[in-house]
Amino acid sequence: MKLLIKGGQVVDTVGLRLIRQDVLIEDGLVAALGNLDGEDAEVLAAEGLLVAPGLIDLHTHLREPGYEAKETIFTGARAAVRGGFTCVQAMPNTRPVTDSGAVAAFVRRRAMEAGWAEVLPAGAITVGQEGRELAPLGELKEAGVLAVSDDGHGVVSAGLMLNAMRYARMCGLMVISHCEDATLSAGGAMNEGYTATRLGLKGMPALAEEVMVARDILLAGETLCRLHIAHISTAGSVRAVREAKARGVPVTAEATPHHFTLTEEACEGYDTDTKVNPPLRGARDVAAVLAGLADGTVDAVATDHAPHTRAEKEVEFDLAPFGICGLETAVPLVFTELVHKGVVSAARAVALLSREPARILGLPAGVITLGAPADLTLIDPGLERTVDPASFESKGRNTPFSGRRLTGWPVAVVKGGRVLMRDGKLTAGAN
Ligand code: DOR
Ligand code: ZN
Repeated sequence: MKLLIKGGQVVDTVGLRLIRQDVLIEDGLVAALGNLDGEDAEVLAAEGLLVAPGLIDLHTHLREPGYEAKETIFTGARAAVRGGFTCVQAMPNTRPVTDSGAVAAFVRRRAMEAGWAEVLPAGAITVGQEGRELAPLGELKEAGVLAVSDDGHGVVSAGLMLNAMRYARMCGLMVISHCEDATLSAGGAMNEGYTATRLGLKGMPALAEEVMVARDILLAGETLCRLHIAHISTAGSVRAVREAKARGVPVTAEATPHHFTLTEEACEGYDTDTKVNPPLRGARDVAAVLAGLADGTVDAVATDHAPHTRAEKEVEFDLAPFGICGLETAVPLVFTELVHKGVVSAARAVALLSREPARILGLPAGVITLGAPADLTLIDPGLERTVDPASFESKGRNTPFSGRRLTGWPVAVVKGGRVLMRDGKLTAGAN
């Protein structure tokens, strides 16, 4: 079982350099790096390709248990690999909610059976994500959860969030905050502002996010709990995180490809595939998120992959569920919008999708080193393709990027030394 990845540019996600190197994989581990000819090894030709550490998504909705019509752990884990991800963190807003060790164990087991990408279940902060009573954080930690989140809802009570952070710090859990004060955003369908007014849609103000970002930064400063801001989307939020980091508050943030690519104007046609929470914002906000990615205020890119059924999305804008399918378009959006437009280097872009998420989760991954598990993603930075939702492995087809021409796609994935994707197509199987 030897595999030689030959002729590629290996991405050094620590030194942020590209190094022309071959990679020899033996028994699922990186066995050698350099100018190699492994005569007896299977060869994966990588000329013109970036050889990246397996990509990690901090924020994926896999929908199982409970919403299997939208996605299952199997289809979501396959969509992850097709998108270049070898590992995803599954958000807990399932049915039942992942607010117990039993549900976390169920998600892990289903993911193991499925094969494909590794799935790390995130736990809930509150029981049923109802924002009333703290979930059993110690039990979740024991079940292998790394982070807790009420993603989908903000925890409106400051007192409860303070308590959650105290316990999370004690248990060694990170708190991922979906920053939305529902008392400011309830009933809204898109970003508050001129476009919403003209479209006759109720707005969700930037303030609804920023109030909670500011509050949670204060609570993290008080408790020293590791705080991670999910899907940061406004200029004020980026500024608050930048200032907090300068003061030494243990806070990190992620941005989604849709928030750094699209503005609220994408909602003009009432296309429900542009309806997402937090909503697509104004041009100033997009510029601030891009600046945050460029200067390191925003630590990572995460998809917030949120599949829904056609039937659920084919309704009036007001009534449609929030969410965009992100796993299979994240890499080409990062390359098209960040790398090819000069916001970050190719090496930094790869780090935003691998080393940084690993660092945030405290995982010893996201770097290609001797002896490390051979989880690798090969990316063709110059490959041009049109987004075609019909080709998605995900059950979800809800993407506002359908028909968009993008440059820079994942073409192969190796996990634990096994080739799970080749030439952009999934191979026979992971198990
Ligand atoms: O757009 C979103 N969809 N935002 C969220 O916070 C939740 C997610 C979902 O679960 O569909
Ligand atoms: Zn989410």
